[in-house]
Amino acid sequence: MATVRQLTKKLTSRPEPQQVGGIRLRHFAGNADIAAWLELRSRAFARQQLGVGGWTAEDFEREFLSKPWWRPECMWFAETVEDPSMIVGTVTLARRQSASNDKPVVHWLAVLPRFRGRGVGELLMDTLEAAVWDTGERQVWLETHQAWAEAGRMYAKRGYVEVG
Ligand SMILES: CC(C)(COP(=O)(O)OP(=O)(O)OC[C@H]1O[C@@H](n2cnc3c(N)ncnc32)[C@H](O)[C@@H]1OP(=O)(O)O)[C@@H](O)C(=O)NCCC(=O)NCCS
Repeated sequence: MATVRQLTKKLTSRPEPQQVGGIRLRHFAGNADIAAWLELRSRAFARQQLGVGGWTAEDFEREFLSKPWWRPECMWFAETVEDPSMIVGTVTLARRQSASNDKPVVHWLAVLPRFRGRGVGELLMDTLEAAVWDTGERQVWLETHQAWAEAGRMYAKRGYVEVG
């Protein structure tokens, strides 16, 4: 049974995103990006031990567009410079709201399998953490799964620890 892990990190300095050759980042740019995000999600999570089911544009609407925190600037896409239609990674800065507070959370980090191991994941995470830093907040949260080894290793390397 896969175990959900709640992780958090205190930011002590503003991350400086490092360029990755041939890759650039941009924000969500409109409805055409919905299909790109759905395709990326399905390919990035295809080999995960804990499967994620197929999603439609309605799921995207529910997960992102309908949220009170949603802004296009909260979602980043990594694309190749050579072919900007080639979307290779994504991450979203969401907010988890509860009665007492409202936290910045890493949401749906994913990199296409054949573009992994080049620093795209780190670039997306540095960019998201820098955006949190710029709001004046100094802590980030996320949820992941025990079975997702690459993600777990990356978060540990970046200083994320179990909540509590
Ligand atoms: C997690 C993920 C986003 C990392 O993306 P990436 O572009 O390969 O990451 P980077 O190249 O920036 O590597 C960052 C770190 O991730 C870890 N990592 C990357 N590939 C790995 C692998 N094959 N095995 C173990 N750890 C790995 C390492 O700690 C690595 O740092 P290092 O190269 O200094 O050892 C990517 O593997 C992915 O999309 N996985 C499937 C979706 C997923 O699990 N998302 C997270 C949901 S919570």
